[in-house]
Amino acid sequence: MKTVMKTIVAMLLLTCTTPAWATAIPDADSAAAQTYTARCSVCHSLPHPARLDWAHWRHMLHVMKERMAERQITLPDEDWRQIAGYLQSHAR
Ligand code: HEC
Repeated sequence: MKTVMKTIVAMLLLTCTTPAWATAIPDADSAAAQTYTARCSVCHSLPHPARLDWAHWRHMLHVMKERMAERQITLPDEDWRQIAGYLQSHAR
């Protein structure tokens, strides 16, 4: 019985451990990553760049620009380009 409990506890611990990619974003110190963090974590938690491929990111960026416009948030072209470049190079 004890062994069974230990096995269960060990399994729980393993499944609770968050993989590094789920918490940290790549190149976190870069200017692009900081723009991404500042702009894209306002309304929801920051999505990890590896969550989508570039085709889907490009689509989402347009949808998100609309969501921002609805809330009178402007996304300067320069920020847009930085975020797009960042997502393109770190997409899945
Ligand atoms: C003005 C608020 C707002 C900002 C800022 C915003 N989003 Fe969103 N986002 C939303 C809403 C609302 C949804 C829910 C889906 C919808 O309404 O289309 C969403 C959904 C998403 C989704 C899909 C849901 C998911 O979790 O998979 C992704 C991906 C996403 N946003 C990425 C971004 C990125 C990248 C940025 C930065 C460019 C961004 N968001 C900035 C409001 C925002």
